[in-house]
Amino acid sequence: MNKIEKVLKTYGTPTYIYDIDILKSRVSYLKEKFGSKYELVYAVKANTFIAKHLEELVQRYEICSPGEYHICKKLNISPQKMVISGVYKDQETMEEMLLEETDILKYTIESLNQYHLLDALTKKYQKKIHLLIRLTSGNQFGIEKEELLELLENHHSPWMMIDGIEYFSGTQKHSIHRIEKEVTLLLDLLEEIKKRGISIKEIEYGLGLPVFYYQGEEFLEDEFLTQVKQELDRIPIKVTLELGRSIAASCGFYLTKVVDMKENRYGKFAILDGGIHHLVYYGQTMAMKIPYYEILPQREDTEETYQLCGSLCTINDFLVKNIRTRTLHLGDVFVFQKVGAYSATEGISLFLSRDLPKVVLVQKNQMILARNTIQTSDINFPNNVVEE
Ligand SMILES: Cc1ncc(COP(=O)(O)O)c(C=O)c1O
Repeated sequence: MNKIEKVLKTYGTPTYIYDIDILKSRVSYLKEKFGSKYELVYAVKANTFIAKHLEELVQRYEICSPGEYHICKKLNISPQKMVISGVYKDQETMEEMLLEETDILKYTIESLNQYHLLDALTKKYQKKIHLLIRLTSGNQFGIEKEELLELLENHHSPWMMIDGIEYFSGTQKHSIHRIEKEVTLLLDLLEEIKKRGISIKEIEYGLGLPVFYYQGEEFLEDEFLTQVKQELDRIPIKVTLELGRSIAASCGFYLTKVVDMKENRYGKFAILDGGIHHLVYYGQTMAMKIPYYEILPQREDTEETYQLCGSLCTINDFLVKNIRTRTLHLGDVFVFQKVGAYSATEGISLFLSRDLPKVVLVQKNQMILARNTIQTSDINFPNNVVEE
């Protein structure tokens, strides 16, 4: 019996499995591709459950909300590994962070208001901090290049050290030309900074490396990463690579069981005990693409075409349409692969008050129940109802 079958036997469905051995070999691969010059920053939003297991493998964690911060703190991840990012930084959480016994490694600045907030708080608490200023890519995140240059020129705080720039413009970037353009943009910015007689130490760069989730999509990752590294090598200062999806996706599996079947004039339907509230790859694919999956128990059988639906009350709850696969029976379990990033956190998990799946971490021969089933009926319950 393999690891997945063991988890299935012990914990049933719906369940996420995160395989820490796969995670570790994935990070080793990325490190090997980029070389020791490039440190890795793990974007915690991709998957909080695996964060602790990356402690020895990544240099930093990118944390974007009070919730992510409290999870990392509870996991005993050192503040010296934390980069506090996020478009909304509230005063209360910033004060809590500043008063940490061990200093937070760095804070990002996403707006001038964030700069002024941290300026005031560091003065108040006489606390030295390190900053990365986020350059916008034309949206609500970060600040404009001109504002950034002005901020660097006028920055005189004895409490805040500006170490560098943060840049992230989006995810699933598979075009080397896009990366090349971004690196050129960053080099131009470095030139402008230098012209003003200012020097910065580093760029934290969210590359948005892609994951190919669906069958039939061809992508030569090895070659692509070699090209990406060549682009990065043009940057003359330290670069750290902020990554979520590319680190986390491959270690995850989502197990969901066929709980009902029917056939009507529109086709054969298999109803699963999970659904689109648990399974998120990237964007809206309208279930037209076939993800990587296997079906347990393994069985030689004839093939049929099915519509795979979840158990939500919405006609949109299609996991896959027109999937040609072996004949299904009640109790068969679909094991969807590459679900280690975002699936558990981005889904519309509260819809229909269905339970949240279990989360099981597997490593070597060990299974750890990282989260038991959670009933969302408690979360969706209005506990201030007035009884008549
Ligand atoms: C600032 C920032 N950095 C890094 C990431 C991680 O992106 P990815 O999962 O594409 O690596 C995100 C994702 O939203 C982000 O907002």
